[in-house]
Amino acid sequence: MSRAEALSLGYDVDDSAVRFSNYFHVLREIVHLSNGWLALVPELERKVRLGDHIHDDARALTKIKRRLYELRHPSDYPGNPGGSVLALLERLNAAGTPEEYLAAAYGEAKPALLHALGVHLAGLDPVTDEPSLRLLTQLAGRQERHVSELGPAVPAAGSGADIGECEISFGGERELRVLPRLVEPARDPFVEVREGGDPYLVRELYINGPENHVPVDPEEQKHFFHGLLDAELCAAELMARNSHEHPAMPWDFHVDMARQTWDECRHAQVHEILMRTELGCRWGDYPVGFSYFRSIYAHDLVGRLALFNSTSEQNAMWRHSHRRKVLRARGQANVAKVFDYLLADEVPHVHNGARWGAYLTDGGERAYRALVRRLRAGPDETGAR
Ligand SMILES: [Fe+2]
Ligand SMILES: [Fe+2]
Repeated sequence: MSRAEALSLGYDVDDSAVRFSNYFHVLREIVHLSNGWLALVPELERKVRLGDHIHDDARALTKIKRRLYELRHPSDYPGNPGGSVLALLERLNAAGTPEEYLAAAYGEAKPALLHALGVHLAGLDPVTDEPSLRLLTQLAGRQERHVSELGPAVPAAGSGADIGECEISFGGERELRVLPRLVEPARDPFVEVREGGDPYLVRELYINGPENHVPVDPEEQKHFFHGLLDAELCAAELMARNSHEHPAMPWDFHVDMARQTWDECRHAQVHEILMRTELGCRWGDYPVGFSYFRSIYAHDLVGRLALFNSTSEQNAMWRHSHRRKVLRARGQANVAKVFDYLLADEVPHVHNGARWGAYLTDGGERAYRALVRRLRAGPDETGAR
């Protein structure tokens, strides 16, 4: 039981809904644009963090949508942003480089959001509006972490404006702007990008069945995990672009893509640690190539899901399990454990293919399965996974 002496006045329900609508718009556009820019952020560390934040913000948005519904909001779309929120969104959209985008998102939008959350938390009644209190506390904690991880070293002085109180207007729906098509992803400047990637990596590493070769020699493992790290980044970048380039897909699709983007970024981080601590090599020691990325990215959304999630990732599950067994038997327990987790994460990734592929295909799951078989019969590229 709460020990509050008395109820404070706090915000009324409608004012609270207006505030949540403004948070909705800022986070919706940050998730959308971060998904668009992720592939073009060169630095491994910043890319991995951005992938993590996209997932955090997508989950926060789901909770905000739910809270808006609870606050008697009539539709799934909570009115149009105006005033300083609209100006802020326009500045996010005006970025022409990943640096400009990150400066706007982490130097301006997220600090403004944090300020508004602070105002809201200080003004709400903690008992009648406890659901908002819990949600905003969690949201503020995450935003603080995001700004500390990717924000400017010297935080810009905010305008002091409270974006929570901006007016919203009804009628129509604000469109999300889609960035130009990607040519290829960006990597750290010290990583050599070469057509065909690392020549050391042979096809037998990526095929299923008795011909599969598990890398056991120390030199071979260095190249293999380096290639795997790059393949994880490509996977994150593909999922992020799937979300960014298809804003009209249901919200659950974007949440699924955000989760996979984070998983793939985390996998990249795991390989980076493994390389440094167990294998004696570093990110950038060998060249990488984007031919597999380009071959998947060239397809429409359903084609990407069929060839990547429902084929490449499905096949990778077998290999991860096989690699785990071989490496455990050789006494490389830590490396074997990594494959155990990769395998576990791969299950929902394959499911994303079936779920959204069936959604996009006339005739549902059966028709999607037929499409997967048809596309699999095309040119065989396995990707370095
Ligand atoms: Fe992965
Ligand atoms: Fe995956």
